Amino acid sequence: MKIRPQRITDPATMGELIDLIEETHHTFTRSEMSRIAGMMEDPSFAELSHFEDIRQCFGALRADLEPHMSKEEFILFPYITALEADPASQPDSCFGSLAHPIRAMRFEHIAMVGMLENLRELTAQYRPAAENDPQIFLIFAALAALDADLVEHMHWEDHVLFPRALQLESRIANRKNPDESA
Ligand SMILES: [Fe+2]
Ligand SMILES: [Fe+2]
Repeated sequence: MKIRPQRITDPATMGELIDLIEETHHTFTRSEMSRIAGMMEDPSFAELSHFEDIRQCFGALRADLEPHMSKEEFILFPYITALEADPASQPDSCFGSLAHPIRAMRFEHIAMVGMLENLRELTAQYRPAAENDPQIFLIFAALAALDADLVEHMHWEDHVLFPRALQLESRIANRKNPDESA
């Protein structure tokens, strides 16, 4: 089983937090989803009850997560990093206010939490039956680690990075239009 990345602690800046999210959670999520998909091809997995539902639920999660992380890496995160580095000059963007992409990312997080809840239910909280093949134990352990990592990953984005980025954008807007904030 792969070891989950080291936990993020006390990032000083949003740029540093973004680097850590990409280097730890995004890298781990991509490599684990690919590894787990391969493990699910094992014939012993087909002996599991609900195996097709589990495979479909995992596949749907993977299909959502890959473009989600790419949108963060190529659109949202570079904008936040540039804004933090030079708050005086607004970076170019295709979305206007940061509130729009952040709302979209949060909606996607909510959908992924729903998929994780389905996966937990289908796998009895990732607890295989004693008689299951050892490979099933490995798959469930990998799914449990992926789940725990995603919860932590979304926490850093939803509760730390996104609020900080919105606060910065709001402070910049207030500086430009002090009358509107009065
Ligand atoms: Fe992310
Ligand atoms: Fe995200």
